[in-house]
Amino acid sequence: MAVPSVWCLLALQLVVMAAGPCGASERVISRIAFGSCANQSAPQPIWNAIIDFDPQLFIWLGDNIYGDNKRPFRLLGKERTIGPWKNVERFFPATEQEMRQRYEMAKNNLGYSKLRQRAQVIGTWDDHDYGLNDAGKEFSGKDTSQRLLLDFLDEAQESPRRKQAGVYASYLFGPKGKQVKVILLDTRYHRDPVFSDGTILGEAQWSWLEAEIKGPESEVTIIASSIQVISNLSATTGPIFYIESWGRFPKERQRLYKLINDSKRHGVFFVSGDIHFGEISRYDCGCQYSLYDITSSGLTQAVEKAVPPPLAFVVRVIAWLTPSTMRVFAPICRYRSCTYGRPNFGAIEIDWDAVPQRIKAEVMDEDGDPVIGVDFLLSELHPRSMNMTYREKGGYQQHCSLEIDLPWILRYRLAILFFGTISVLIAASALLAYIIVSISKTFIQKNILCFMLTGQSCLLNTLLYLHHNLTSASITFFSMASDNLFLFCTLY
Ligand SMILES: *[C@@H]1O[C@H](CO)[C@@H](O)[C@H](O)[C@H]1NC(C)=O
Ligand SMILES: *[C@@H]1O[C@H](CO)[C@@H](O)[C@H](O)[C@H]1NC(C)=O
Ligand SMILES: *[C@@H]1O[C@H](CO)[C@@H](O)[C@H](O)[C@H]1NC(C)=O
Ligand SMILES: *[C@@H]1O[C@H](CO)[C@@H](O)[C@H](O)[C@H]1NC(C)=O
Repeated sequence: MAVPSVWCLLALQLVVMAAGPCGASERVISRIAFGSCANQSAPQPIWNAIIDFDPQLFIWLGDNIYGDNKRPFRLLGKERTIGPWKNVERFFPATEQEMRQRYEMAKNNLGYSKLRQRAQVIGTWDDHDYGLNDAGKEFSGKDTSQRLLLDFLDEAQESPRRKQAGVYASYLFGPKGKQVKVILLDTRYHRDPVFSDGTILGEAQWSWLEAEIKGPESEVTIIASSIQVISNLSATTGPIFYIESWGRFPKERQRLYKLINDSKRHGVFFVSGDIHFGEISRYDCGCQYSLYDITSSGLTQAVEKAVPPPLAFVVRVIAWLTPSTMRVFAPICRYRSCTYGRPNFGAIEIDWDAVPQRIKAEVMDEDGDPVIGVDFLLSELHPRSMNMTYREKGGYQQHCSLEIDLPWILRYRLAILFFGTISVLIAASALLAYIIVSISKTFIQKNILCFMLTGQSCLLNTLLYLHHNLTSASITFFSMASDNLFLFCTLY
């Protein structure tokens, strides 16, 4: 166990060393799996694929359970949960008892239990296991949730992680020369409201993170954030919908990039979850080497599963239509969008024995087959080693411009299509309504006219007439309706 246990306390007593990463273990770590968004009540067949991948370490990236409660999706009625006229929140917190039961259910899952016997499991949280959808520092149940998460992760009772405000932690694995540091961020406990451009981590966690990043080197440093760091999807999905990400807090994200750049720490990359699909993004202008963000989401919750199976292709088309400046379009992607909207997990393999050493980071499907992936040299994650001349020649596209700098027609492509489609639908319904109203008016008029002119009801004629006009769908009908009608009536 890398949790600060007896070993760590001993080490702390022997070497007077403040707040250093605890649990350094000598075992070489080369296979790491991670995942997010697991509904404890749903079947979780993906654990089999994760076990087959045979990771030494598994990292939970949040929404490890769905701890909060959800009201049904209702536009109308007494409890309206959607639209500008909604009168109750869609999500509300569960009781401690309910959350505890859900954690138990998750922990007793057969697949997950099997994984726990084979691999070390560490993790952080996102909103639903924090206790409430999209919640931040204002959420009152956070200390209870912290205790429940740390119980779920078997954190030792005396662990400092149980005494601090928030669940952030760091771990160091492997012998010198093959060290992997994992930094788990807490993006909830101290987070300001979403539109504030305030803080995500809060000052205490920032000081801790600065010490971790500026501290002793490691060959690889994985920063685990529940929400995406590099990709700012909201810039291209708004104003239809917004997704939480570091991009929504531009100042805070800049501070993170600057910290990594100033520290000159090499080997850093991000892993993230939250969004219910897999994506790999890369930013080439945050520090002096490319920063990757490997997003895997979710273990059970995935966008394509949220729609009836025949509509899955619509989700793929939308993913493909949503522009992105950070997404890595790798040759191995299963779909053109280079996103993956079915259940998935993240897999990192470090080949310490290769010369030069390599890292493979992939998003895997439920069968354990890669659906998105990148493969790079460990030396590429070194300041000033960005081999741009070579890359430019080789057609390597630099990811430096932000999503918000896209030309508006491209940036809002999805919104234009969405609102365009809605407008067309509204216009079509209005036209249809107009046609129906006109026809019924004509119908009434005709009957009256017929009656007045011929002294008898000509219902049958009218029906024949309507049938003819409807099937031929003649627009001119409307302008000429009364003339025709008269003619028609008099003919019969
Ligand atoms: C979790 O799965 C159960 C059983 O399939 C379902 O009833 C529930 O709505 C799901 N919860 C979420 C948050 O999707
Ligand atoms: C991310 O997108 C949001 C929504 O459009 C925008 O407000 C924010 O400034 C963007 N962040 C960055 C860093 O571009
Ligand atoms: C990174 O730091 C170097 C100095 O070490 C500086 O020249 C460069 O502008 C910085 N890059 C960014 C993106 O801040
Ligand atoms: C850049 O990469 C190419 C191909 O891997 C290599 O031949 C070259 O030496 C590299 N240049 C530097 C400055 O690392």
